[in-house]
Amino acid sequence: MQNQPTPFYNPLLSYEENYQQGPFGAFSQTPPSILEKKQPETFLNLEVNLPFGIPAGPLLNASFIKAAFNYGFDLCVYKTVRSRAHASHPLPNVLSVHPENQLSAGVDTVLADTNYTTPLSITNSFGVPSFNPDIWQPDMAAAVKAAHKGQFVIGSFQGTAGNEASIEKDYAKTALLVAETEAPILEANLSCPNEGVNQLLCFDFPKVERIAKEIKNAVPEKPLFLKLAYFANDEAIYPLLHVLDGVVDGYSTINTLSARPVNADGKPALGQNRPTGGVCGDAIRWAGLEMVERLHRLRTRLNNHFAIIGVGGVSNVEHYLAYRAAGADAVMSATGAMWNPQLALQIKSSLNK
Ligand SMILES: Cc1cc2nc3c(=O)[nH]c(=O)nc-3n(C[C@H](O)[C@H](O)[C@H](O)COP(=O)(O)O)c2cc1C
Repeated sequence: MQNQPTPFYNPLLSYEENYQQGPFGAFSQTPPSILEKKQPETFLNLEVNLPFGIPAGPLLNASFIKAAFNYGFDLCVYKTVRSRAHASHPLPNVLSVHPENQLSAGVDTVLADTNYTTPLSITNSFGVPSFNPDIWQPDMAAAVKAAHKGQFVIGSFQGTAGNEASIEKDYAKTALLVAETEAPILEANLSCPNEGVNQLLCFDFPKVERIAKEIKNAVPEKPLFLKLAYFANDEAIYPLLHVLDGVVDGYSTINTLSARPVNADGKPALGQNRPTGGVCGDAIRWAGLEMVERLHRLRTRLNNHFAIIGVGGVSNVEHYLAYRAAGADAVMSATGAMWNPQLALQIKSSLNK
């Protein structure tokens, strides 16, 4: 086990402080010269340098996205936005977690602290904060413009209960606001805890179908991805894929696995009112890989061509290649990239050999 270098998102600072002051570490310094992969690839109908990037979350605004592009992350997702301002949970938002082995999908109890040691897994708990569209729209437009050749921004968004007549309408409205920034690809986040109980929106198939169709009606011209959680077997997700056949363009998976982070005294590490938190990083790679294999198998069964973005526990070139072998058209890393800003350059240099 060894200590990690400075992450580009500082877990000791609040979301707002990171937004104002970040990114940190190498992302705040003079960027390296862009290393292009010898053979660009096709993702959707776009020519992308390497279909590798950073998923929704750690890239809070255009400053973070510009840095990520400069460090060779070619697909950068702008952190999930909403149709109205929404406050972040207070600190802590990020803690290191230490499961004994890989995390199960059954809400394990895990020790959480500030020792960020490898293999690195963390819990993240923000509550999907957002600024008002008058702040994030021009900023997302600036992020879109920062892309070099072969690089693309994906705009992540989600609906909020109570902002519009229905959550479906709010998803569609927010999709339109994202489309106005010229982001070439949309991603609807359906895998953050839903209003109320510990139920994720992506498990409510009739609602997901209505949401996806409302978004597609509102913005038919942009490719639409849905961000999904882990489903335990093929039959658990097949009905959703079947009903959305031809409606959405792809799926991004996974988000996080839920766990109970506790401190050394066994008390909830995120605070009494947040007993559970999403875990990401090394301990969830098995679940991301399994979901990608599942989606790949099911798209063959459906004779469909939806794209798959594989996410979860990627921190080196072997992990990237494992996701591609499992059927991912693109791969992303949040935790791995946060603590290793050189990750995309390292993968490219390894593939160029
Ligand atoms: C700091 C942080 C913030 C995140 N915020 C979001 C978010 O706003 N929307 C979302 O869909 N996923 C969010 N995620 C989840 C990531 O997109 C990703 O699915 C998850 O971290 C698994 O990837 P990893 O193992 O590479 O970290 C966040 C993750 C991290 C680490």
